[in-house]
Formats: sequence, structure tokens, C-alpha cells
Amino acid sequence: MERVLKMTFYPHKHAAAAAAYITESFGNIPTVALVTGSGLGGIVADMDDPQHISYTDIPHFPVSAIKGHAGEIVAGRMGDKDLMVFSGRVHYYEGHEIQTVVFPMQVLAALGARAVVLTNACGSVNRDFSPGDVVLIQGHLDLMRDIKLGMPEPQCLYDSILNRQAEQAAGAVGVSLKKGVYAAFSGPSYETPAEIRAAAVMGADMVGMSTVPEATEAQRLGLRVMGISFITNLAAGLSQHPLSHTEVIEIADQNLPKLKKLLRQIVLTLDLTQS
Ligand code: HPA
Repeated sequence: MERVLKMTFYPHKHAAAAAAYITESFGNIPTVALVTGSGLGGIVADMDDPQHISYTDIPHFPVSAIKGHAGEIVAGRMGDKDLMVFSGRVHYYEGHEIQTVVFPMQVLAALGARAVVLTNACGSVNRDFSPGDVVLIQGHLDLMRDIKLGMPEPQCLYDSILNRQAEQAAGAVGVSLKKGVYAAFSGPSYETPAEIRAAAVMGADMVGMSTVPEATEAQRLGLRVMGISFITNLAAGLSQHPLSHTEVIEIADQNLPKLKKLLRQIVLTLDLTQS
């Protein structure tokens, strides 16, 4: 069984070529990477001495066609920490193979990175959450149907020690950080109200269309994983008005200062020596 999985999910043959290009361009490769979700790319404005590489210049690197996903890697410093931000990601719903969706995680592993913070914009299933809330992912449900990557979710897919550090970081800057379970649907359409009721019964607090494949693959490749969800809307059936991508981007824009403050503090206090 293990042999079959290893053969099936061996990192993409092009990951090393992409990593080599990035290493040549940046020189020093930070050990921590942040992946930004819809409309959250503005976090890079907080970095010092940023160096940019467009995804289109990296050999074999997948490029998103979705509004709000800039599509570049920015390496620089945040306070006294080195950081690499993957601004924009490709989604399964754009028609990419799942191996393409997780390609950046394979590149990160090939670069020697040790931890990845995955962020996303999502809808809230939990009625105690509202748009603008930030939630630390505790676990996930893979409802993308045909996707099976790596081994079944181990106990510690989302690193509990890094999660504790994130909670302390949130407390230090006075940002309320909730905890929840993220359920990934494959999209591209938003879920139906019936799907949302089913997700709630299964234990979901949030729904989105990303993060789960990347978290699973990053963890399989030995990276430590943190996931941060930003709630942009009530999930289908919980709100009076229809969902729209414009609303998602607007709410993200309004709350960017709070998110930046939190992510900055998380990066500054992330301690990978604790394990
Ligand atoms: N469902 C799925 N993905 C999303 C949502 C949602 O309600 N909001 C933002 N991304």
C-alpha cells in the first residue's frame, strides 16, 4: 500500500527545475512560506527589501486566471525574519489537475522550506462566525470528491505547536482568532444550501475551495502546516442575498489591516525550534 502511494504521489518531475530557478533568482531561500488566498495578497506590502518573481517566469509554475490572485513569489524580510510569500494560487475548479494545484508545495519542499502558512477566504457554516472573522484551522474535511492525496489525515496535519504560537500572536496584537474545521468543496460554483447543511452535520465550521490539497501535500512532504481562514461571507442558505466573488474581495479589502497585523505577528513569533 505504502509503495503504491509513494509511486502515485511522487513529487512532480518539474518541481526541481522550478526550485532551481527560484534559488538562482533569490539566492537566500527563507524557511517559512505564506500562501495568500483571494484578495489577501496585500500582506506583501509589509515586507522589507522585497524581491519579486512572477509565476509566469518560473519554469512549469501554474498561473491562476482568477481576479485577486496576483501570481508572484515575493521574498523579503519581516522584522528580523526572512519570509517567502506565494501571492496567488491555482484552484482545482479552474480545471487544473490536483497534482498541478499542489505543485507549489512540491517546489517549497524542493527549496528546503520547513513551514507553510496557508491562508484562504471562505464562507462560514458555523452560525457563531461572521464576515470579517479570522479562524485558525484545526482540521479539515476533504469534500472535493475525486481527490485523494497521500495518506489519510494524520492527527497532526495542522501543527498544534505552531497553532498555539498563532493563538499567542493573536492575543499579543489584540486580534480575535477563532478555531474551526475547514471543509473544501471542488467548486467552481458556490455550494447549495443543502450541501452546507450536510457540511454542518459533518462538523464543518467554514467552507472553501482551496487549502486542503496543499495542506495534505505539504504535510506529506515534511513541511509543518498552519492554516488561517478569513470569513468573507455566510455560506449558502445562511444569508438573505446571493454570494458573489466581488463581495469576497470587498470584505477581504476592508479587513486587510487586521489580517496584516495578525500575520505579521505570527511570522515574527513563529518558532520552528519548538516541536
Ligand atoms: N464557499 C466556497 N468558497 C468560498 C466561499 C463560500 O461560501 N466564500 C469564499 N470562498
